[in-house]
This record gives sequence, C-alpha cells and structure tokens, in this order.
Amino acid sequence: MTKNPKLLSWVEQVTAMCQPDEVHWCDGSQAEYDEMIHLMLAGGTAQKLDERKRPNSYLIRSDPADVARVEDRTFICSVKEEDAGPTNNWHEPEDMKATLTKLFTGSMKGRTLYVIPFSMGPVGSPIAHIGVQISDSPYVVTNMRIMTRIGEKVLDTLGDGAFVPCLHSVGAPLAKGQKDVPWPCNADNKYIVHFPETREIWSFGSGYGGNALLGKKCFALRIASAMARDEGWLAEHMLILKMTSPEGVSRYVCGAFPSACGKTNLAMLNPTIEGWKVETIGDDIAWMKFGDDGRLYAINPEAGFFGVAPGTSMQSNPNAMLALRENSLFTNCALTPDGDVWWEEMTEAIPPRLVNWLGHDWEPLAEAKAAHPNARFTTPASQCPVIAPEWEDPKGVPISAILFGGRRAAVVPLVYEARDWRHGTFLGSIMGSEKTAAATGKLGVLRRDPMAMLPFCGYNMADYWAHWLRIGERAGARLPKIYTVNWFRKSPGGDFLWPGYGENSRVLKWVFERCEGSVKAVETPIGDLPAERDLDLSGLDIAPEDLRELLRVDIDDWLAEARGIRRYYDRFGGRVPQALRDELAALEERLWAARD
Ligand code: GTP
Ligand code: SPV
Ligand code: MN
Repeated sequence: MTKNPKLLSWVEQVTAMCQPDEVHWCDGSQAEYDEMIHLMLAGGTAQKLDERKRPNSYLIRSDPADVARVEDRTFICSVKEEDAGPTNNWHEPEDMKATLTKLFTGSMKGRTLYVIPFSMGPVGSPIAHIGVQISDSPYVVTNMRIMTRIGEKVLDTLGDGAFVPCLHSVGAPLAKGQKDVPWPCNADNKYIVHFPETREIWSFGSGYGGNALLGKKCFALRIASAMARDEGWLAEHMLILKMTSPEGVSRYVCGAFPSACGKTNLAMLNPTIEGWKVETIGDDIAWMKFGDDGRLYAINPEAGFFGVAPGTSMQSNPNAMLALRENSLFTNCALTPDGDVWWEEMTEAIPPRLVNWLGHDWEPLAEAKAAHPNARFTTPASQCPVIAPEWEDPKGVPISAILFGGRRAAVVPLVYEARDWRHGTFLGSIMGSEKTAAATGKLGVLRRDPMAMLPFCGYNMADYWAHWLRIGERAGARLPKIYTVNWFRKSPGGDFLWPGYGENSRVLKWVFERCEGSVKAVETPIGDLPAERDLDLSGLDIAPEDLRELLRVDIDDWLAEARGIRRYYDRFGGRVPQALRDELAALEERLWAARD
C-alpha cells in the first residue's frame, strides 16, 4: 500500500465526489485480471472466444455511439487560450473544472472505483513516468494491464514522488437496483479534458480506446508533450523499429504516421529483401531524451498494442496475427460461428455467416462491414514474435532516422530526405493526410496533421514546432536524419501505386544506407530523392511508369501545396517560427527556379 500523501488525498477527494459503492486498489495480478474478466462476462460486456481457437481471449462490443476517439470533445485547458492554439479546443480551466465537477459528482454510484497505478515505460527507467488512473470501468482495468505496467511495483517505485492524476468515468451511475447495460457510457456528454499546466486529465462519458485508456494519448502524448517542451525532450506519435543489415549492423528508426496510417504494420514488417531483418520496439508512441553522447534515445512507453484489426492478416502483418493468437482482447470485431473473431481482409474467403460488431447476424452480401473499421485488438507486446530483445531497455535505443508519412493519393513522392534538422522540422510541420476511422468524423478528407500530432499536441502547435527547432540547436546534439514517406500514392484509376507492407523494407533499406553514407540521393526542390537504380527492387514486379510516378515531383502540384501550407501557417499568426517561414519561402523559390 502507498503512503504517498498526494495520492491518498486525491483518491479520497475523488471518492467523495464520485460516490462509488466500493473502492479497489489494483495490484496488477493475474487473479485481479481474471476477476475483471469475470465481471465483464457476467455483465454481458465480454464473451469468451473458443479456447482452442483463441486461448484466454475475449470479444467485447461497445455501444455503437462509442467507437473511436472524439476530437471535437477533446479539450486543452491551458490558462491562456493562445497556449492551446488554433488546432485545439480550448476552454478556461476553472470553468471547465466546475462543469466536470458537476458531471463527476455521483457519477460512479452503483459502481466500483478502481485505482490503477501505472508506469509509462519500463518501471524505474529514467525516461519513464508514472500516472495513476481512477476509473469505474473493468474494461479499462483489463486494457491498462496489457497496455501499461500496473500495480504494486509501480506504487513502490513512486514512493512519495509525483504522478499524473488521470480521472475517468464512463458517466453512467446506477440507481439502486438498476440493471447495468453491457457497455455503459454517456454518448451525448463526452469530455476528454487536459490541464497541461497542472498535468491533470479528466475524461468523462466514453469507455473506448484513447478516450478512456488515459496512459496512451491523454498522458503519453498530450500531457507528456507539454512536459517534454518544458524539460527538453520529445513525446511523439511514433513507432520505433530496429533494422539489421545482412552484415549485422543495426539501426533504430522512428516513424510518425497519423492514426490508422501504418505504424503498427511498419513496426513489425517482414522485409521482402534478402538478408534484412526488422524487429519491433514500439508501434504507437516514442519518448526520446538526449543521451550523454548527444544522440536521441527512445523508449516505447507502452507494454502492449492497441491495434487496428481490419486489414490485419497473415499476408499484410503476420507478426501481429501471431501476437494476438492468445491472451488478447478484441473490441468491435465480428464473431465466427465457431467462436473466433474475424474482420475485413483477415482471410481471403469471407466466412459465410458471422455475427457483426453490433451483435447481429451478417452475411457476406451485406453492405455494411462485419467489423467496425476502428475495431481493435489489445495484445501484450511481449507476444510479438519479432519484438526486439532490447525493447524494455530502460536507457532506450539511439535513433538514426525519423520518418514522417501520411495518406496522400497525390503530390507526395514515395520517399525523400530532408537537408538537415531544420528542413526536417519543416517537412513534419507540412504533413497532410486523408482522414481515417480512428476518430469520429468524415473520412478521406485531406487535413494538415503536423508530425501526426494534430489530435495529440497538448499545447500550441506553432510552439511545438519551435520546440522541435530548439531540439535541433542543442549543443553537441547528434541528430537523426529526417524523411517524408508516402505508401499511399494512387493511380488515376484509384489503385495504390506502391505495394506497401513488407515491401516498405525497400524504402527502409535506402534510408539505412543513407544513414551509413553508402548511397547517393538526387536533389530536387522539395528534398533529396533516391535515384530509381538506388531503390532495391529485386524480385518486385512493379511497372516502370508506376515507379516513375511514385518518384515524380510535380512542380505545379507543389506550388499549389506551398500555397496551402502558407494558408495553414497563417492560422497560427506570429507564432510560426521564422525558420519555418524561411523554409517555406526557400521551397517556393526552388520550385519557381525549377519551373523556369
Ligand atoms: P493507430 O493505431 O490508429 O495509430 O494506427 P497505425 O498507424 O498503427 O496504423 P496500422 O498499421 O494499424 O494500419 C492502419 C491501416 O492501414 C490498416 O488497415 C492497414 O492494412 C493499412 N496499411 C498499413 N500499412 C500499409 C501500407 O504500407 N500500404 C497500404 N496500402 N495500407 C497500409
Ligand atoms: C490512434 O487513434 O492513434 C490510436 C488508437 O492509436 S486510440 O488509442 O484510440 O487513440
Ligand atoms: Mn495511434
């Protein structure tokens, strides 16, 4: 048990406000996990999958009104509005606290309040940080146990130290004798609220993913980005992978891609090129701090994968499929008649009969998808067959390269390299991507998503760019090289031009060789591209005209892109760092010069 005075008094205050029937301090044990599962089975929240097909695994169906992150209900409550910036929803903190206090008062009646101490990062790592989540959801407890390190050992490490308080309620109190529903939530009254200055999180009304597993986006990105700005490090929406050449040389690469744009897939890809190996360190978040040697060292603050299920198959991502063979939770997937899960593209043959994510009978001819497009698996990272042996190394791994990539049907080539850190920061700041189902809202619309952090930056985006530039100016820094990649360029007919998945190793190889200094690049107005002959295409069947298109830099398209970027920058007014304005002007100059 803890003697941490701040923690004890916070739990006491929250208990008085939320008025739960019981309080349970999570120890993180298997018995406790089993008890939570039992509660979910009894309440109809979860059902057990066939033990022979998917041992120790469960299917959970959420309320159809609670299936993804809700960006329009996500708030950054800094004292000053301009510190949240034009891309965040801001609200005055005192007023927001008053609103939330009303909502949380009595919100856990008829339920148990769980106290979940968790470590983001290996317990005790100098890069790790501790949070404590209070939640009234057994689903949250089970997911947090897979996604983070929870329980006694965290309290021991915490001692009297500081933690980030993360308060969560599904916002569905029960009257005396009222029967619970399988997925309680408060669909019309969701609030995902961050107080970056006081490092607090209050989340109300949703039980799903990033809205409710507060260690993930709320802490490890929104609050941590504010901590990182103040303390000189980076908290990023990035995968971390290890790549080893046939000669046995290893390098570590981070990649920022917006939600549902390929991080999990890239992090555990099987290279299609002879002799190369890729292993996983993390698939969603990277925390990077400077080592004594001036390099950036990254840890994966998470302990599991909360991955997009649809599209995952033995062809596209066998290592994910093998990871989730057992001990996994599945949310909003379809159910097969023999008691296993299924989702779109999992198998070539679609099972003739299924129960869809809504719990209704489903046939392949049905128009709607069987699994929700944002259906997810929760699985321990340790189960991934290609997890790197050093994935829990408390010092982290030294990063050689950072990739930025979005879904761009046109304009952006397959890969290009930044001239230096400042230009690389510019490339991150101008990222765009077509919207996916990971958050509610209209799909496919192109939006700017700088560094894949648009929904996750806990302060003014322009100040975040300034922070990136400051990182690059640190004395003695030995910085990673920076790249933009785009796996999603399409033909006029709408087909992907690049095969993607394991074939992305060909691009990683070029990046690796650039880091080694063993391959050249071709200068263009936007940055440095590979020559066609320097991309290893052995064994790949790709039409020469497709390859040419993938590496084409269209001057007029880019001039239009630059105009769009200027309009975007203008939203931030005078806060955009002059260095980025200069980069934009220099880009336009090079484009005009190339046009003449
Ligand atoms: P979050 O967990 O939401 O942050 O997503 P993520 O970035 O980890 O994305 P993930 O790897 O789960 O991929 C999302 C979707 O993109 C899946 O449906 C994949 O099948 C698809 N995808 C991933 N990599 C590629 C690729 O290289 N090419 C193509 N065409 N699709 C891809
Ligand atoms: C994302 O949306 O980027 C995710 C899923 O990784 S969630 O945890 O719901 O944020
Ligand atoms: Mn993500």
